[in-house]
Amino acid sequence: MNAHPGGEAHTRHMLELAALPAGARILDLGAGAGEAVRLMQELGYEAQGLDLHPRSPFVQEGDLLNTVFPDQSFDALLSQCSFFVSGDTPGALRESRRLLKPGGLLLLSDVEFEPWDSLLEAAGFSVLLSEDLTECWKEYYIEAIWRGDPLCCEWPRRRCRYRLLICRKEE
Ligand SMILES: C[S@@+](CC[C@H](N)C(=O)[O-])C[C@H]1O[C@@H](n2cnc3c(N)ncnc32)[C@H](O)[C@@H]1O
Repeated sequence: MNAHPGGEAHTRHMLELAALPAGARILDLGAGAGEAVRLMQELGYEAQGLDLHPRSPFVQEGDLLNTVFPDQSFDALLSQCSFFVSGDTPGALRESRRLLKPGGLLLLSDVEFEPWDSLLEAAGFSVLLSEDLTECWKEYYIEAIWRGDPLCCEWPRRRCRYRLLICRKEE
C-alpha cells in the first residue's frame, strides 16, 4: 500500500511534472512496498528502489543516507515521505546530490517543519516547481490514525505543511 498522501495519482502527478525522458534511470529513496518503483517501470523508466526495511521484491535493502551506488549514477531520484523519517534531512539531501548526474532531478514530497527551500538551496538544489499538499496530507494522516496504521516516527508537536518539490542539482 502506498504510504504517502494521494497514493498512485500523486506519484503519477510528480512524474508528469518532472517530464523525464523514457528510459531515465531513477532511484526511489525510502521506497517501502515499491508501488512507485513498479509504476515507474511500467511507464518505461529504468527504476529501482531502496529502503531500510524493504517490503517487496521491487525494493532492495539499504540506507538512503549512505547508499552503495557510485557518484552520479541516476538521472532522477524520487522520495515520498521518507527524508523526514530518516531523521537526517540534510544528510539525505547530501546523498541525493552525490547520486545525481549533473542537472539531475530530485522529485520530493514530504512534511515540512522547516522551509524546504533553504534546506535545498544549502544542499545545492534549485526548486523548479513546488506545490502545497497540506490539505491532502491532513486527510491522509487522519485516515491513517483511523485505520490504526503504524506511523513511521514521533512527529514534533508543531504544525507542519506538506510540500511537493521538483528540484534540480546545480553545479
Ligand atoms: C512513510 S514510508 C513511505 C514509503 C514509500 N515512499 C511510499 O510512499 O509508500 C517511509 C519509508 O522510509 C523508510 N526509511 C526511513 N529511513 C530510511 C533510511 N535511512 N534509509 C532507507 N529507508 C528509510 C522506511 O522504512 C519507510 O518504508
